[in-house]
Amino acid sequence: MAEANQAMPGGGAPKKTGILDRHKILEKNATLLLIFSFLVVTIGGIVQIVPLFYLENTIEDVEGMRPYTPLELTGRDVYIREGCYVCHSQMIRPMRDEVERYGHYSLAAESQYDHPFQWGSKRTGPDLARVGGRYSDEWHVDHLRDPQSVVPESVMPKYGFLEERRVEPDHVAELMATHSMVGVPYTTEMIENASADFRAQADPDSDYDGLLERYGEDSVQVRNFDGQPGISEADALIAYLQMLGTLVDFSTFTPDASR
Ligand code: HEC
Repeated sequence: MAEANQAMPGGGAPKKTGILDRHKILEKNATLLLIFSFLVVTIGGIVQIVPLFYLENTIEDVEGMRPYTPLELTGRDVYIREGCYVCHSQMIRPMRDEVERYGHYSLAAESQYDHPFQWGSKRTGPDLARVGGRYSDEWHVDHLRDPQSVVPESVMPKYGFLEERRVEPDHVAELMATHSMVGVPYTTEMIENASADFRAQADPDSDYDGLLERYGEDSVQVRNFDGQPGISEADALIAYLQMLGTLVDFSTFTPDASR
């Protein structure tokens, strides 16, 4: 051994460090190796997992996010009932092609009041996370009635019957109370005024000051969404669609890098 070492370029017998020798003991003993591997993995795991227990919330608060109004929440229920999510996701990924097509990538906060969330990867139709304001209400009415009338190659089914179906705000207060149980910050005032706010949002001639005060003057759109008298499921659905992606103002939004 000593001779071989001396023949090595650079000369001089390398000092045996000892630590490598001791490592050999581990490498040759399967049980010991297993015990030490387990120890190393445990330490790594603790370092990664323990800090999460001390984080109250992994969602960054973002200005502008508010709970859905009673009309929007009802529209969202129609959206879920009709299975719109089967063809449409609501999650723009931070990739260039998606951002150029749909707008700013989705933030976790934008889905924080969604129970259940509407993410997904199945897109027969386009992502709807930022469809709010992209089209007029009339376009939505035509498109729901007969998608092929506005987009000839569309494979989307017709939903004209939604205009015929009246909705009453009978259950919306209970729906909001349920959402507040899972963390949506509906106030008692919001829940008490649910019916009034529901009607006010679909009627521009009503007294909707209370609605704006409760949910935010800049972010609530008050209109007769389907253009017909009375409140239909189409009104609620279009109110919901026109709000999607409009709550956060991306001209002033800067990601919080401190977290
Ligand atoms: C069978 C799949 C399918 C279902 C179910 C479906 N859509 Fe669509 N949707 C499409 C396709 C495909 C398009 C693209 C062509 C078009 O605009 O019609 C589309 C387009 C849209 C658009 C226009 C988006 C844009 O950015 O241009 C909206 C809004 C929309 N759908 C809403 C809905 C709503 C609301 C429902 C449920 C009531 C629904 N869709 C159900 C397939 C579907």
